[in-house]
Amino acid sequence: MKSVILAGGEGTRLRPLTLELPKPVVPVLDRPFLQYQLDLLATAGVRDIVFSVAYQPDRVRSVFGDGAALGRSIVYAVEDEPLGTGGAVRNAWPHLDDVTVVFNGDVLTDVDLPKVVADHKASGAVATIVLHPVPNPAAYGLVEFDGGGRVTRFLEKPKPEEITTDTINAGIYVLDSRALDLIPPNVNHSIERGFFPALLRRGDLVRAHVHRGYWIDIGTPEKYLQVHEDLLAGRFPLAIAAPERGPRVFVADGALVADGARLEGPCYVGPGCRIEAGAVVGAGAVLTRDVTLGPGARVEASVLWAGCSLGAEARVRGALLASGVALGAHAAVGPGSCLGQQARIPDHSRLGAGA
Ligand code: GTP
Repeated sequence: MKSVILAGGEGTRLRPLTLELPKPVVPVLDRPFLQYQLDLLATAGVRDIVFSVAYQPDRVRSVFGDGAALGRSIVYAVEDEPLGTGGAVRNAWPHLDDVTVVFNGDVLTDVDLPKVVADHKASGAVATIVLHPVPNPAAYGLVEFDGGGRVTRFLEKPKPEEITTDTINAGIYVLDSRALDLIPPNVNHSIERGFFPALLRRGDLVRAHVHRGYWIDIGTPEKYLQVHEDLLAGRFPLAIAAPERGPRVFVADGALVADGARLEGPCYVGPGCRIEAGAVVGAGAVLTRDVTLGPGARVEASVLWAGCSLGAEARVRGALLASGVALGAHAAVGPGSCLGQQARIPDHSRLGAGA
């Protein structure tokens, strides 16, 4: 059994963050995102992984290499042109064996993967799709199934009157690899809209595994912020490596917090950060690493990548800052803003909501 992680999308909704790094390797708290998926795969004994890449493949490779440092074997199936989710899995086929676990490279979940795999094998299904119930399913691909857990129909982004189920495709599949011969080689193909419906038409057994625990797709700025909020609040089971200085106040070794700076949980201050006197790291702030807060600066409900700096009394609330963003003294960044790598915001400037 091996895994294909789909990591080739352009991540357009997460721009400008994804101009600097592909979505699968953006930092989430203290590690590149795909590390969470590698950890989940390890729970099911999967250590042979194919990263299916198309957009900025070298940036993914430079983070994970051949996986040896992590005790994994990672190979890269590179597409010259993005082949879509199905074409990408088909392209990885030469690296696979009998059973394949496919992950969309942008979902974080605590699904019981060993059980998904065991149930899949016991059922004799050609494919098992992990489903997740959501309150507003209209924006997703919905999957219907019968009382015996057999998938009966797929509905892509249905009109309100067509909605018959709240279970969406969670982007995690276990497949009998032989079925991949249904996907034509070297053409753009969607696993959700092409491959799975084709299995149903052929009469193959496709099983649903409903996961009611944690699940999020980090593909928009709102969700990327949300995942940090969830991790800080402990809504996803994760042992945060940094020492906890106060209730859910995580400060990594090697961060310098001056006397007179205030840390309000839940928050995370990564290695190499420097928090000066009078600065406030407020609730929901994540300073990934090497971030400097000048005297009286304040950050809350925001994620700041490596090397960001805030001048004296600068303010950031509800925003995402890519690496090396510098705010001058008294500058302010409003909620929903997203600043690209090395952006410079002069003293006393104000960016309103959604900048
Ligand atoms: P947006 O541009 O913001 O929609 O993001 P995206 O490009 O990541 O697309 P989407 O969220 O629909 O993709 C779901 C998953 O499939 C992500 O992990 C993508 O990296 C991956 N993916 C999407 N298209 C391709 C593709 O053509 N090739 C490969 N290898 N992966 C893909």
